[in-house]
Amino acid sequence: MQKELEKQLQTRWMGKKVFYREETESTITWAKEAAKAGSREELDGALFLAEAQTGGKGRMGRVWTSPPGQNIYMNLLLMEPEISPMNAASLTLVMGLSVAQAATEVTGKKAGIKWPNDVVMSGKKICGILTEMQISGNMPKYITIGVGINVNQKEFPEELQDKATSLMLETGEILVREEVAVKTLEYFEKNYEKFLETQDLSRLKAEYEALLLNQNQPVRLIEKGVESRGIARGITEKGELLVEFETGEIRKVLSGEVSVRGLYSYV
Ligand code: BTN
Repeated sequence: MQKELEKQLQTRWMGKKVFYREETESTITWAKEAAKAGSREELDGALFLAEAQTGGKGRMGRVWTSPPGQNIYMNLLLMEPEISPMNAASLTLVMGLSVAQAATEVTGKKAGIKWPNDVVMSGKKICGILTEMQISGNMPKYITIGVGINVNQKEFPEELQDKATSLMLETGEILVREEVAVKTLEYFEKNYEKFLETQDLSRLKAEYEALLLNQNQPVRLIEKGVESRGIARGITEKGELLVEFETGEIRKVLSGEVSVRGLYSYV
């Protein structure tokens, strides 16, 4: 997988150095350990790629099941990036956009985004993203973005069947995993450079909203167990979701504080 990826990759610096393991506990842990011991020159833009994970991590302490040979499990490492820690969380949205663009290009089937960063096909999730950061002084020492893409997985456990899918299940074809990973990194490099121009999503907002499945759709907000309903009206430059209520009030919703669901289904 590593050789093929290196051969195909057309980026300037993103993912130019690839570390590969047949199996690792989690590419997040691996990338963080490397970041602690390594330098910016050596590791900025490095990619940590594993064939399987024994302790794959999902959001909110969930497990990310990571069987071998079917999917992509990778972490990108940004060393000492010149980004304020306040803006770093937006990189998760930048990666979500990049995966959606890559999946659409590779499969010819439209992938969309469920805010903030789930990539979705036919109403089901094909990708999860988890970003972690270490701050030193006032700036990030490193940021690592973990990406799990369901590429050729044939079956999902029963409790996930109505929420998760893979590119293969959606297209009926076995896909080349390297191609999906390469396209993701290429889109991410371009999008990241646009992000750096303003340190926020100003230059990516239009592309993001074009793929946002919640756009102008009813959403349920669940905040500390309390539910409210409104209509999603796009995102801010900081990546917050704009939600309009019946009263006409528009609220900015921050990811992590509020969970957002569709009215009748997961999206
Ligand atoms: C989510 O819950 O939606 C986020 C899932 C993130 C999974 C990826 S797979 C590669 C990286 N390593 C991990 O342990 N998790 C992330």
